[in-house]
Amino acid sequence: MPIRLYLDNSQSPFREIENGERFELDTSALTDGPHRLRIETVEDGHITGNREISFTVRNGPGIAVAGIRPGDELRGAVNVLVNASEAGIDGRFDAHAMETHRGIPFWVGGFAALVILACAAYIATDPFRHRAYDTQASEVAALLGDKSAQNAAPSLPLDAQSAELPLTHPQHLVLADGDFLEIIPVQNLPADPVRGGEIFAAKCSGCHGAKAQGTVQEQVTLADQGIYPRLAGQSRTYLYRQLVSFADGWRDNAQMLPMAKSLSNQDRLDIAAHIESLSPAYPPPGPATPEQLTRGKDIAELGLIEDGVARCSGCHGADGRGGGSNFPALAGQWPQYLESQIHNWQMGSRRNSWRGLMRPVAHSLSDSDIAAVAAYYAHLRPDSDRAGLD
Ligand code: HEC
Ligand code: HEC
Repeated sequence: MPIRLYLDNSQSPFREIENGERFELDTSALTDGPHRLRIETVEDGHITGNREISFTVRNGPGIAVAGIRPGDELRGAVNVLVNASEAGIDGRFDAHAMETHRGIPFWVGGFAALVILACAAYIATDPFRHRAYDTQASEVAALLGDKSAQNAAPSLPLDAQSAELPLTHPQHLVLADGDFLEIIPVQNLPADPVRGGEIFAAKCSGCHGAKAQGTVQEQVTLADQGIYPRLAGQSRTYLYRQLVSFADGWRDNAQMLPMAKSLSNQDRLDIAAHIESLSPAYPPPGPATPEQLTRGKDIAELGLIEDGVARCSGCHGADGRGGGSNFPALAGQWPQYLESQIHNWQMGSRRNSWRGLMRPVAHSLSDSDIAAVAAYYAHLRPDSDRAGLD
């Protein structure tokens, strides 16, 4: 059964096909606009069926118009906008959207808000503590710089590769949370060391020794420890700070609490100035194995990087003499006292260290490492001609 195909009003078919045959209708030869496809079936010379399909050709750009709508009644000059490229055929055309491009989708706004919130939260809370670290590192450096310039600023991570550079190498600080006692600057306050010496002789020398060299009793007990630290060799700022620490509850010690409380601020200043002026001989360093001393030296000068222990020398000075007026000397101290203090930080009975600097150090050291580093510092003599006990 042949099928004839006509376009629009044409009297002659543009194509004749067999039933079920596919054909290609090439619209590029047609003008844009409405057209008709007429289909006739022919049997024995008669038209037996027909069908018409209307369609629209749009090979050119879509044309959208704003300002006139079909059926509008117009008067005077009318502002009309024609868009011949973007709007789809018969698509609704929104002149406002066309001028501003398309609106920003809601999720973009939501996402941007999330990003801004995350940034704000980061800035506010500093979760990885980068800013806190930088601030603290430069503050520690500034504090250390107040007396000895040879202490390198402890601001950069200690690189395990460069472990041969022990003393001047920067170190990595570990940050601690929690309360601490702020720096108390007293260096420039007037103090009378002579008066301080008198109070010291009357109140303190019984336990700390006439020259503040300290002592450790044969029988060291927990209740009455019998460990009396050497005070000589410490700065007045550090000594004054310790008296405040005992009196105000930053350091728990049953013997020092009433002592410190009984002193006025001026007494504390005067005594601290007196002790600062002393330079007695060092106490005996106590027994230690060569392995302990080597291990102690490594910890002191390199730290334990993998355990997050910053090297002691970064804060306490290259020779254990103390770093600046706020970082105490460790060299020549009684080893039992050095050990006891690190244990005090572990137990929480000493909480005064500025910014909690000693807390992570103490918590990351094992008992044997504490003993090793204490033995090392007890053996160090920053001033060799003062060796031997008075
Ligand atoms: C009854 C004994 C006793 C008397 C008296 C005493 N102290 Fe102490 N002092 C100690 C003990 C014990 C410690 C160690 C505390 C600890 O383990 O935290 C200590 C620690 C200190 C420290 C801290 C040292 C450091 O390196 O951090 C200072 C400073 C101090 N005493 C000053 C004084 C002054 C000043 C006097 C006199 C007003 C005095 N002490 C009187 C027993 C005494
Ligand atoms: C980031 C700086 C820093 C590092 C690193 C550091 N310390 Fe300290 N340390 C301090 C400060 C600050 C104090 C004084 C705290 C106070 O009394 O306010 C202190 C005090 C001490 C004391 C008490 C001294 C006394 O006379 O009572 C001992 C003991 C001590 N440190 C041992 C060590 C050892 C051992 C290491 C290395 C394993 C070490 N510290 C590493 C900052 C540091």
